[in-house]
Amino acid sequence: MSQQRNTTLYTIGFTAAVCVVCSLIVSTTAVSLKPRQASNALLDRQKNIIQVAGLIEPGTDPDREAIQHLFDQYMDPVVIELATGTEVDIDALTFDQTEAARDPARSRDAPPNPAGVKRVPIHGIVYRVVKDGTIDKLILPIEGKGLWSTLYGFIALDGDARTIRGITFYQHGETPGLGGEVDNPGWKARWKARKAFDERGNVTIEVLKKEAGPPEDDPYHVDGLSGATITSRGVSALVRFWLGDNGYKPYIERYNASRSQ
Ligand SMILES: Cc1cc2nc3c(=O)[nH]c(=O)nc-3n(C[C@H](O)[C@H](O)[C@H](O)COP(=O)(O)O)c2cc1C
Repeated sequence: MSQQRNTTLYTIGFTAAVCVVCSLIVSTTAVSLKPRQASNALLDRQKNIIQVAGLIEPGTDPDREAIQHLFDQYMDPVVIELATGTEVDIDALTFDQTEAARDPARSRDAPPNPAGVKRVPIHGIVYRVVKDGTIDKLILPIEGKGLWSTLYGFIALDGDARTIRGITFYQHGETPGLGGEVDNPGWKARWKARKAFDERGNVTIEVLKKEAGPPEDDPYHVDGLSGATITSRGVSALVRFWLGDNGYKPYIERYNASRSQ
C-alpha cells in the first residue's frame, strides 16, 4: 500500500484531486457570493448618492436600513434619453448605466474626449432629490479616466442646475495619498457652491493645477490635488464631459426651460 503511494502516478492523481476539490470550493463560493456582492455594491452606490445629496454627514456610516430609508424618502430617480434630455419609460431602480454603456445595442461611440470616455449610453439616470414637493438637487453619474483607473462617481447640482453641491467617487484605483485624495472630504468640500455653468449655460467648471480662490470670487475653478496633476486633469475632464453636450446638458437645458415657464 505504502509502495503504491510512492508512485509518480499516485502523486499526480492526488494533486489533481486536491486541485479539483479546491477549484470547486472556490468557484462555488464565488458564485454563491455574487448576489451578495451585487447587493453590497448597490448599497454602496446608494450611500454615495445620499451622501453627495447632503442627506448624511460625510464620515458617518449609516446601516443598510437607514440608507434604504433615506433613499426611498428623498430620491426620485428617472431615466432619460441623453441626446434629447427627455424622460423615458425605463425602470430607474433596475437600470444599470455602466452596463448599458458596455452594451453595443444600448450605447454609441463617444467622440474623442480628454475624459477617456469610450462609449456613451443612449440612456442615463438622474437622481432627483425631492424635498417638500420640489426638486432640491439633481445627482448625476460621472465617470472617466484618471492616471491608473476609471473613476466612477456622482456630482450633485442644486435645484438651480448650476451650483455644485457636492462630488463623490465610489470606485477608482488612483494612488492613496495622491490621486486617491479625490476621497478627501476637505477636497470634496472645495467643490461646494462653485458654478458648473456660466450665465449662458456653457460648462465652465475646471480643476486647476494650483489653488482656486473662494467660490464667491472664483466660482468656476476648483483646487487641483497636489502631486496628482493627471488625476486632477481627469476629474476636470470627466465632470466637463458629463455636464456637456454628450452627457447631461440636453437634460439640464430642458429642466431649466421647464422651470422658467
Ligand atoms: C507610485 C506613484 C504613484 C502615483 N500616483 C499618481 C496618481 O494617482 N495620480 C496622479 O495624478 N499622479 C500620480 N503620480 C504622479 C504622476 O506620475 C505625475 O508625476 C504627477 O501626476 C504630476 O503631478 P505634479 O505635476 O502635481 O507633480 C504617481 C507617481 C508615483 C511614482
